[in-house]
Amino acid sequence: MKKILLLGSGGREYTMAWKISQSPITHQLFIAPGNGGTDTFGRNVPIDINDIEGIKHFVESEQIDLVIVGPEEPLVNGLADLLEEIGIAVCGPCKAGAMLEGSKAFAKEFMMEFGIPTASYRSFDSSEINEAKKYLHSLKAPYVIKADGLAAGKGVIISEKLDEAEEALNSILINKKFGKSGSKVVIEEYLKGIEFSVFIATDGMHYALLPEAKDYKRINEGDTGLNTGGMGAVSPVPFFSDELKSKVIHQIIEPTLDGLKKRGISYRGFIFFGLILVDDQVYVIEYNCRLGDPETEVILPRIEGDFLALCLSVAEGKLSEMIPVNVTPQAASTVMLVSGGYPEAYKKGFEIHIPEALPEHTLVIHAGTIKKESKLITNGGRVISVTALAPRLREAIDKSYDAIRKICFEGMYYRRDIGYEFLK
Ligand code: AMP
Ligand code: GLY
Repeated sequence: MKKILLLGSGGREYTMAWKISQSPITHQLFIAPGNGGTDTFGRNVPIDINDIEGIKHFVESEQIDLVIVGPEEPLVNGLADLLEEIGIAVCGPCKAGAMLEGSKAFAKEFMMEFGIPTASYRSFDSSEINEAKKYLHSLKAPYVIKADGLAAGKGVIISEKLDEAEEALNSILINKKFGKSGSKVVIEEYLKGIEFSVFIATDGMHYALLPEAKDYKRINEGDTGLNTGGMGAVSPVPFFSDELKSKVIHQIIEPTLDGLKKRGISYRGFIFFGLILVDDQVYVIEYNCRLGDPETEVILPRIEGDFLALCLSVAEGKLSEMIPVNVTPQAASTVMLVSGGYPEAYKKGFEIHIPEALPEHTLVIHAGTIKKESKLITNGGRVISVTALAPRLREAIDKSYDAIRKICFEGMYYRRDIGYEFLK
């Protein structure tokens, strides 16, 4: 029997736990810390994802065989290195690999070295604030300024106005708005195009292409309002043609993996390529060292076959046995139900009502939920995501919304236009 520890507590990890539960491999699943739904598939254990010592202790005392890491922070902090040192298999890259997400300056320099298309840029530290401002003046609006390190999705400032952009530089480099994450900034050229995301699993030698996805980051319809962790997603991406796929593979995925090898980084985990299509050229906007949320909520339901076996093969360097990963031609959509006020201040603790009977091929995915005295309660900004699968994207989206109309909690909000640009 395989004992598995899955780290995280969002919709991404619920979807992973759901998919792992379908594995024919005999296993026992623990989720740390999990949410109000993940205990359907295993045992929630109250350990924080950043409690590296606590995780190590649990893994040793429970004799865990495989740790699957959902979020980036523990990876950037070196959790995989620490666990591998004590002989534990990990699906999630070592610290050096996680730098693709953990430092934007590192990622940009890496892309330059290996000829991977990305926006032109320069990076500066706090002693170079005057040079940074000079560089800003040499660019045209909109200005793109990024804190170097992890900033929970808030470290990118895009501004039309030069004085605002200068203010952003001051707040990151001088006033340390993002703490150590802002000890450097990247200033880069603004790219105008359509964004989408491509995912791979790799064991450092081989890679498996996973389904691509498009997420919807803004809080309001028509992609307006504040940025969020993600309000919904669709997969496949209708414009991801064979020609575009081939470009992504040859110009981005393969050079990235070659670059990691040349740097001597043995990367075992997922890579999330945040891409943008500008006319017919594709550029990398960002790398992430993990799967996306809510992209996972549409990717995993489309993967046919055993996700646990995939994660094991990534961790054990046996991915070649799993390639290619088969994907259903069915379309998937997911729509996130969020707490009123999110992504700004919001209240938690409202009871969530979900009926037993929902349309076929819909999946209620728990994110910010918790169980208290057998009631299900809201416990975060993004509360529940409703995924549906159908032969066509329109039907999948309609099914997601049909199910949503039966779910309620106080203050519940969701976007009514997920996938809109593909339904015209
Ligand atoms: P990141 O955290 O790097 O993914 O940036 C967050 C968001 O900012 C991206 O999803 C894009 O929408 C936007 N963005 C980042 N870099 C650029 C760029 N060079 N040009 C245009 N938009 C960008
Ligand atoms: N949905 C974007 C992310 O996971 O970073």
